[in-house]
Amino acid sequence: MAFENLLIEYKERIQYIIINRESKLNALNKATLAELHTAITEAFANTLVGGIIITGAGQKAFVAGADISEFASLGVDKGTELARDGQIKVFNLIEHGPKPVIAAVNGFALGGGLELAMACHIRIASDNAKMGLPEVTLGLIPGYGGTQRLTRLVGKGKALEMIMTADMITAAEAYEFGLVNHVVSQDSLLAKAEEMLNKILLRAPLAIASAIKAINAATDPAVNGFDTEIEEFGKCFGTNDLQEGVSAFLQKRKPEFKSN
Ligand code: COA
Repeated sequence: MAFENLLIEYKERIQYIIINRESKLNALNKATLAELHTAITEAFANTLVGGIIITGAGQKAFVAGADISEFASLGVDKGTELARDGQIKVFNLIEHGPKPVIAAVNGFALGGGLELAMACHIRIASDNAKMGLPEVTLGLIPGYGGTQRLTRLVGKGKALEMIMTADMITAAEAYEFGLVNHVVSQDSLLAKAEEMLNKILLRAPLAIASAIKAINAATDPAVNGFDTEIEEFGKCFGTNDLQEGVSAFLQKRKPEFKSN
């Protein structure tokens, strides 16, 4: 499917989703969010795709937030709907997806942009990236899961400080806080993301999906994460991946996982 606000590229089993509104610093308008929903749903369903890298077009921004120009006309009901819809169709979709999703944060990741990066399973930032949740400068709070995911990633104290001051932090500070997994030069950002994703793609895909589910359960108050782990651990024994992984170990060879 052709998109207006996204570029889709494939590199072997990696699908790139590039937010492509460079003149607006890749701000997420409604149309872009709808396209993201479609692109991610298709990538998860496509057996040729092992994992996804999300990044922004250009050198300056990953995503500079939700598109502020769409906010002026919203009332309470439409504002609530915007947040709920976005959370379900894009941000939760990514976090709970069965395939690894890496955010390659290539510049400003503000507001909805940082929320998008935080919904991904792993974040790698370029050393010029700046991150923040500046919504209170607009009379708003984060609505795409930012208050929850930032708190889980950096702790309540830092989350309160970042959200209430609206200050941007550097990539080095984000690394120090545990908000990003790695910081590299902008030139090597995509290579680093690919290297990590390619390593994950050598592992058993169904076990990766189970690991994502069990780890997500750790921060979901609606489920007991230890029970989820037991269930997912058990399920692994019914997969060909486990047969292959264990046989390969015993036969002293590298496993070749076929499932998706
Ligand atoms: N929504 C809509 N448009 C945005 C945007 C956003 N979140 N962020 C940037 N843009 C647009 C600007 O309006 C400008 O468009 P124009 O050229 O048509 O006027 C263009 O992108 C370039 O941005 P500009 O502000 O000129 O770049 P800058 O280098 O001076 O500043 C930022 C960069 C990121 C500091 C600044 O754009 C900014 O503060 N953006 C908003 C960040 C924000 O509050 N995000 C949270 C939203 S909930």
